[in-house]
Amino acid sequence: MKKLRIGMIGAGFLGHFQAIAMKQVRNMELAGVFSLKGAEELSRFARDNELGKAKVYPNIAEMAKNVDAVAIYCPNYTRIAIMEEIVAAVKAGAELKGVICEKPLGRNVAEARKLVKLAESVNLRTAYFENQIHMKPIRIQMAQLAPQQRTMGPLTLTRSAEEHGGPHEGWFWDPTRQGGGVLCDMGCHSIAVGWYTLTPLGKDLTFLQPYRVSADLGLLKWGQPKWREKLLKDRGVDYSKTPAEDFATGMITYKNPETKQLVKAQFTNSWMFEKQGLRLSMDGMGPGYAFEINTLISPLTIFIGDAAAEAVADQEAALEKATASRGLLSVHHNEADLYGYTDENIDAADAFLAGKDAFLNWRYGLEITKLVMAAYMAAEKGCTLDLTNAAVQKELEKYVPAIQQGHGADQLFAKK
Ligand SMILES: NC(=O)c1ccc[n+]([C@@H]2O[C@H](COP(=O)([O-])OP(=O)(O)OC[C@H]3O[C@@H](n4cnc5c(N)ncnc54)[C@H](O)[C@@H]3O)[C@@H](O)[C@H]2O)c1
Repeated sequence: MKKLRIGMIGAGFLGHFQAIAMKQVRNMELAGVFSLKGAEELSRFARDNELGKAKVYPNIAEMAKNVDAVAIYCPNYTRIAIMEEIVAAVKAGAELKGVICEKPLGRNVAEARKLVKLAESVNLRTAYFENQIHMKPIRIQMAQLAPQQRTMGPLTLTRSAEEHGGPHEGWFWDPTRQGGGVLCDMGCHSIAVGWYTLTPLGKDLTFLQPYRVSADLGLLKWGQPKWREKLLKDRGVDYSKTPAEDFATGMITYKNPETKQLVKAQFTNSWMFEKQGLRLSMDGMGPGYAFEINTLISPLTIFIGDAAAEAVADQEAALEKATASRGLLSVHHNEADLYGYTDENIDAADAFLAGKDAFLNWRYGLEITKLVMAAYMAAEKGCTLDLTNAAVQKELEKYVPAIQQGHGADQLFAKK
């Protein structure tokens, strides 16, 4: 079997998760790693698990000469500079087939559009990694409900949520570096899943036309003095000065251009979720049928009493973002597969080896960035935006949310 040789840029939390997923991917090899920190550790994990040579490179230019594709798994604020180095490497002769980028593609529309143009400038195939669209439960409900959709009509309402207690690194909390708060970080997942699950079978990813968007943001936990101090101490980010939202919810209405039917996707995201760990929940309603996914329901639960709790060294051995190590705990035996990482890698490798874009390419990632920015704009203006209005679309091209600029206090704290 032909394997795609990948070079990873960034070896943090996500790089490790993707390496775990690669244990289940047969058409990809981890050939190289370049990262400011963590490269040796990731390389050792890859070699121990026979994922590939995972040679540690001193820069992108060197790595690009020895791999088939590169994967951008470093922080959001580094995207443009990293992509410029990739483009320079291709211009210098590196024969890359494609480039993968983790969500979100950009922190705003201008950045995402620049990334698309950079990839196109050297004719690179692209993969936008939105793992949740590749989740097996999402794909299997679609297959199971295909006959119902054909006879009764497509879904008209979906609700998608991703929630946990907050990210693991300081840069995620800093709205200027990450792009905002939870709406930028995780709203991009839930907005993509909502649009995808509403889309009638057999239609393109962007067949349903974005029509209206409304959104509401809150700083419900991490703006309180006690939690603000903890954030400053633990993560070095001061939410009394540059706050970001820890809660976001909203509604996007789409129009079916053939039937004119309006359908709705609600999204909810939080960094102040206080249950076992990360929860993805998605549901959908069609005429006479429905689906529901809740990743906190696992076939495996364990119980650890107080007397035995000290034996558990790592809460996250049970579940991503787990916050408890005793009591009744949900455990997932294969999170990388459940969340869709396995399948997005298989898809990207198949596509790049065939000289094609992945199922989700960067142009699609740009559309998701646009919807996320539209949600920020709707919340900032306190109105429902008409996405069919050319003036709104034009404004979105240059829009940078006040929260992303570091001016979120007016929006997120009471004005006395
Ligand atoms: N799909 C998902 O659910 C999911 C989950 C987590 C993170 N992500 C995304 O993955 C990306 C990485 O997140 P993470 O959690 O791994 O972050 P992280 O902070 O844990 O790791 C980032 C890694 O990038 C390296 N790095 C930083 N700047 C660099 C640079 N200029 N050049 C090379 N390496 C650099 C760091 O040393 C570190 O190894 C982010 O864009 C994030 O949004 C996606």
